[in-house]
Amino acid sequence: MAVQRTFSIIKPDATKRNLTGKIIAKFEDAGLRVVASKRIHMSREQAEGFYGVHKDRPFFGELVDFMISEPVVVQVLEGEDAIAKNREVMGATNPTDAAEGTIRKEFALSIGENSVHGSDAEETAAEEIKFFFNDDEIVG
Ligand code: RTP
Ligand code: MG
Repeated sequence: MAVQRTFSIIKPDATKRNLTGKIIAKFEDAGLRVVASKRIHMSREQAEGFYGVHKDRPFFGELVDFMISEPVVVQVLEGEDAIAKNREVMGATNPTDAAEGTIRKEFALSIGENSVHGSDAEETAAEEIKFFFNDDEIVG
């Protein structure tokens, strides 16, 4: 597998509980490198645009309200097979289904307040990175 880049968000439930460092340590322990990072407070427009794929789902309003409720940390992670590796270290969307040792198993509060986002494919990773970062903000 080749070196890839993926996009990550440390979500409001995690920044609120001061878990940023503990979550980044999980990425680093899995062999992922943080090559871009910023703490932002997302606007409603940004959250609606970012999660546009879910706009017809019943949880969309709740999801957007949650994502703008507190600051988030947006990051680009780099490593061998980074997209799948990040999804593995994140764990299942619903923390009750997440494997031992994963971020969501250890830290997530619920299926909504689930501490992290990670891109699910090469195409979405590229789009999501572009949504939040300029090329000169990514330093590999
Ligand atoms: P993410 O996009 O945040 O990395 O999470 P994911 O791929 O594991 O899950 P996805 O299906 O893309 O859903 C996006 C986010 O929407 C929230 N959600 N809430 N209340 C619900 O039933 C529900 N289902 C999904 C979660 O925060 C999920 O991460
Ligand atoms: Mg998703």
